[in-house]
Amino acid sequence: MDHVKIRQLKNPKKLKQTLMNISKQSGGSPVGSKWLDRRIKTNVFFMAEQDEPVGFASICPDFKYDRTGTELDIITICQKSQRQGIGRLLLDKTIEFTQRLGKTKIYLFVSQKNIDALGFYEKMGFVEKGILKDRYGPGEHSLIMKKELEI
Ligand SMILES: CC(C)(COP(=O)(O)OP(=O)(O)OC[C@H]1O[C@@H](n2cnc3c(N)ncnc32)[C@H](O)[C@@H]1OP(=O)(O)O)[C@@H](O)C(=O)NCCC(=O)NCCS
Repeated sequence: MDHVKIRQLKNPKKLKQTLMNISKQSGGSPVGSKWLDRRIKTNVFFMAEQDEPVGFASICPDFKYDRTGTELDIITICQKSQRQGIGRLLLDKTIEFTQRLGKTKIYLFVSQKNIDALGFYEKMGFVEKGILKDRYGPGEHSLIMKKELEI
């Protein structure tokens, strides 16, 4: 994996269009403008660059159901740059960030139908903690996953 740089974005608002473009090219569900505006207000963003921006992750410092955890809101890589270890590098940054806050867990919600993301999360040590039925519409369930971090 050559020349991949991960940086925390100081002003994610300025790069909103770039973030939307990456998510459109990921093969997953693209993020909406309003969804992103809300995250930009509360979350920390990490961008992966391989000469140009190719992926990002966004993490909320507070998971509302457990104060000892953060919430990974999204992690998304352009299709052309997937399976090269960039998702792992981005996740590592969110782990460091969580640990710096003195927190010990990362949570996330993911569609039960997103088989690729589930494969990635399981490989990265996330385990299923529960299910929110019909979260994305009738029959469209969301899994809650958790990763315990070393202190
Ligand atoms: C899911 C996603 C973030 C993974 O990123 P990535 O950069 O392709 O993953 P990596 O190359 O860092 O893979 C890390 C590990 O996970 C494994 N992995 C990655 N995708 C996988 C999949 N679909 N199934 C099983 N394992 C997978 C890799 O084999 C690797 O393990 P290894 O190091 O032992 O070989 C990326 O595919 C993506 O952006 N998907 C579309 C958007 C999306 O659905 N995001 C998640 C919901 S917000």
